[in-house]
Amino acid sequence: MELRIEPLAAEQRKPKCTDAAQLGFGRHFSDHMLVADWSGDQGWHDARIVPYGPFQMDPSAMVLHYGQEVFEGLKAYRQEHGGIALFRPDMNLARLNRSAERLSLPTVPADLFLDGIMELVRLEQEWVPAAEGTSLYIRPTLIATEAALGVRPAQQCRFFTILSPVGAYYASGFTPVRILVAEQLSRAVPGGTGEAKTGGNYAASLLAGNMAHDRGCDQVLWLDAVQHRFVEEVGAMNIFFVIDNCLVTPALSGSFLAGITRDSIIKLAPSLGLAVAERPIAIDEVLEGIRTGRVQEAFGSGTAAVVSPVGAFNYRDELFTINNAAVGTVTQRLYDTLTGIQYGRLPDTNGWMHRL
Ligand code: PLP
Ligand code: COI
Repeated sequence: MELRIEPLAAEQRKPKCTDAAQLGFGRHFSDHMLVADWSGDQGWHDARIVPYGPFQMDPSAMVLHYGQEVFEGLKAYRQEHGGIALFRPDMNLARLNRSAERLSLPTVPADLFLDGIMELVRLEQEWVPAAEGTSLYIRPTLIATEAALGVRPAQQCRFFTILSPVGAYYASGFTPVRILVAEQLSRAVPGGTGEAKTGGNYAASLLAGNMAHDRGCDQVLWLDAVQHRFVEEVGAMNIFFVIDNCLVTPALSGSFLAGITRDSIIKLAPSLGLAVAERPIAIDEVLEGIRTGRVQEAFGSGTAAVVSPVGAFNYRDELFTINNAAVGTVTQRLYDTLTGIQYGRLPDTNGWMHRL
């Protein structure tokens, strides 16, 4: 697909925030964005990289009423020995298109997604921060733009990608977080949209997130919506436990996100001598295991959160502290290995890094 590029003149570009401590997550945006439109008649057309700025949208645009939207999150990393590389963008393309199918949105062609994002990051290279633990977060998004109020799949859609230089997702950085076990509220049900990366899932999670914050917790651990018994995922990450020296994570059930970091950790574990099991995990097993010491570590995994140690679960206002709320050795090794590959400090034997 042809891609038009309309770069800003150097003097029109914004000053770049380079101070890692000031970056936070998703607060600064680069100078340009990738945009393309789709219609039922024309298919994908008018792919362009243009200055970052607001869209003009009809108030009846379907995304504003019925939430027909999907998105992705991936990162570009400044490499130890020079250059910039993206981590597994092909996986984000595949997941975006699975999400799009679930939300009856058009799928995005591989060249628009992969070549378009590569071209955008190339233009915005100076926005990739260099400090330890920082990266350029890439947010591809697909929305229904057709102006109509009937409930049906939109016949006009827009794909866009924006870039944000980021530091740690949690203000506390790589220190163990505290997680509230959500008992009453549910995020997703079997057959619903839990497996799709769509805005509505996140909107549905906000009330529980507030409850977590009120109890001094950073995020929520979701249980399955039918029995409120089996562990699914955390607000913005998948969950892993070290139980009896084995790395254990919930088996994909269709109602939570198939994380790309989750998949990468499962693939890396054997090379670190770790056994892995993907299986249903009951919350009772976790709590009992924390009491007896069988649950040795817990951590979340995600693009934004990377590998994030969990220090304690709050269950019915009782605190279950893991490993004295210290970072466990398996968590630390997986963090070091994954970020080692992402920043080019370790060999990329799986072919995960896509250099610009
Ligand atoms: N679960 C949820 C709800 C998320 O938002 C994310 C973040 O994208 C993840 C899991 C982890 O997915 P990934 O590792 O692909 O970023
Ligand atoms: C990500 O890790 O990419 C996410 O999408 C998490 C969150 C910021 C929604």
